[in-house]
Amino acid sequence: MYPFSEGCFAVRNAWYVAAFSHEVTREPMERWFLDEPVVLFRTEAGTAVALAGRCPHRQYPMAAGRLEGDILVCGYHGIAFAADGRCTRIPTQDRVPAAFGLRAYPLVEKWKWLWIWTGDPDKADESLIPDHAAIGLRDAPGANGELSVPLSHNHVGGRYQLLHDNLLDLSHLAFLHSSSIGMEAIATTSDEVTSGDRWLRSARHVRDADSSPWIRARYGVAKVDFVIDFTFHMPALHVGLNRTSISADAAERAGEVIRDSIVYHAVTPARRHSAHYFFATTINAPATSEEAMAPIAAGIAKVIEEDIFATEEIERMIPADRPLRDLMTAGDVAVVKGRRMLESMMKAERG
Ligand code: FES
Ligand SMILES: [Fe+2]
Repeated sequence: MYPFSEGCFAVRNAWYVAAFSHEVTREPMERWFLDEPVVLFRTEAGTAVALAGRCPHRQYPMAAGRLEGDILVCGYHGIAFAADGRCTRIPTQDRVPAAFGLRAYPLVEKWKWLWIWTGDPDKADESLIPDHAAIGLRDAPGANGELSVPLSHNHVGGRYQLLHDNLLDLSHLAFLHSSSIGMEAIATTSDEVTSGDRWLRSARHVRDADSSPWIRARYGVAKVDFVIDFTFHMPALHVGLNRTSISADAAERAGEVIRDSIVYHAVTPARRHSAHYFFATTINAPATSEEAMAPIAAGIAKVIEEDIFATEEIERMIPADRPLRDLMTAGDVAVVKGRRMLESMMKAERG
């Protein structure tokens, strides 16, 4: 399906962010991943669990059932399942055939979120989850810079690849986000694209440019140097370093860093035409108070809304009955490479 070739939807043998830790509670919650319904909940001991979200008896949603201790009981005819997916009781008969189990998904809690493995469970290698210490997410309190910006999860009405395309072509900042973080110079500065095994990096170094409306309003700085350096840890997470400093050519405070942050965008396919979009950020400079964070958080929420708007509008433009072809520009090196790499991962796992 667009923008991949026919029959290619998503990489299955992979870890994806399923939820932020705080979202998963003792109340069973339904979430779709790679076009399959999943039910998420915690056991009495607090361990997060992910099971197939559809009852094998009559397809009733498992999230509409209830927990009795660690046993999930279907809300339709009362068939019961343990946290490992095994069926423990069928009210209308004594015998419990093994076929009545629910698929259990490997789930790993790391930092403030949960990673789900959507493919062959025998291949669920935890070392494939991006190294959290290396990307700046440490569990120790206060280790991540200022963390007052709320974590956000959005369910987006557009296919997941549109969000990857968005994050792989940051020239859109100059236009889609022109009233906030956008700077014309981002679009006219070429990006350096590098890649390796399951990662793709795109970096721009903008010199002595007119600052964004945001930077002007918050810091009163007119000319800046700007580094925007994003790495896509395939197929699930983009980690972006953003550093704004006063232009090295300025008469005063030349080169002083005025804003230094890391953004985390996790994208998880939900259904064929929808996706989960998780966002988090750490801000290392300047040190900000709780009150100072409120407008920053509001600004970030607006930027995310704009990206979701673009994604859903593009989804609306895609015909259901015929293939589409994009015309590419010099700014699309990372997009083209990203799509190719993902498609070859999909093809490799199909053999
Ligand atoms: S549909 Fe779940 S028990 Fe019948
Ligand atoms: Fe954006």
